[in-house]
Amino acid sequence: MRLHVADHPLVAHKLTVLRDETTASPTFRLLVDELVTLLAYEATRHVHVKSVDIVTPVTATTGVKLADPRPLVVPILRAGLGMLDGMTRLLPTAEVGFLGMQRDEETLEAITYAERLPDDLSGRQCFLLDPMLATGGTLVAAIDFLLARGARDVTAVCLLAAPEGLAVVEKAVGDRAEVSVVVAAVDERLNDKAYIVPGLGDAGDRLYGVV
Ligand code: URA
Repeated sequence: MRLHVADHPLVAHKLTVLRDETTASPTFRLLVDELVTLLAYEATRHVHVKSVDIVTPVTATTGVKLADPRPLVVPILRAGLGMLDGMTRLLPTAEVGFLGMQRDEETLEAITYAERLPDDLSGRQCFLLDPMLATGGTLVAAIDFLLARGARDVTAVCLLAAPEGLAVVEKAVGDRAEVSVVVAAVDERLNDKAYIVPGLGDAGDRLYGVV
């Protein structure tokens, strides 16, 4: 597993406002959107492109375009949905699939309650969106889901990760596939409720208000 921490003052600034408990949902959503676009720039560094011939107003030249099959962006519901626009702003031609996963608050295991993904993901670059990589259970379940459909190149874009969760993902993935994790920051630890510390609280609740 490859870990990339986006080390940039703008990322750190936006993350600080996100963490602040007084930041209300509308500002929180806007900042998540902006942060994800910055993270998407890093996450797509190795996106597949093909060479194309074009003619500029001055001369013929060669450039690149995104290759087929198009990348697949998969927000993990519910909180990952808040990251979708920020990601597709940079990858407007990507296809979008959905995975509904919830962690059982007692066992902390991930339960899949919905999915809308192509059956065959061979050769597809997949970008999973999940703001909080806490225990790693949800992300491992989501990666396993994509690998079972043939994906071998998966990048997870997260706002925050806990060291414990990163270790779980690294161990679970092994050398089965190329998996990258792109985060705005790696925090200190998990607390006894499996929340990231210092973290930002429940990302879904902060994005959408408590339901
Ligand atoms: N999910 C969240 O929304 N926040 C955490 O800190 C951990 C998991």
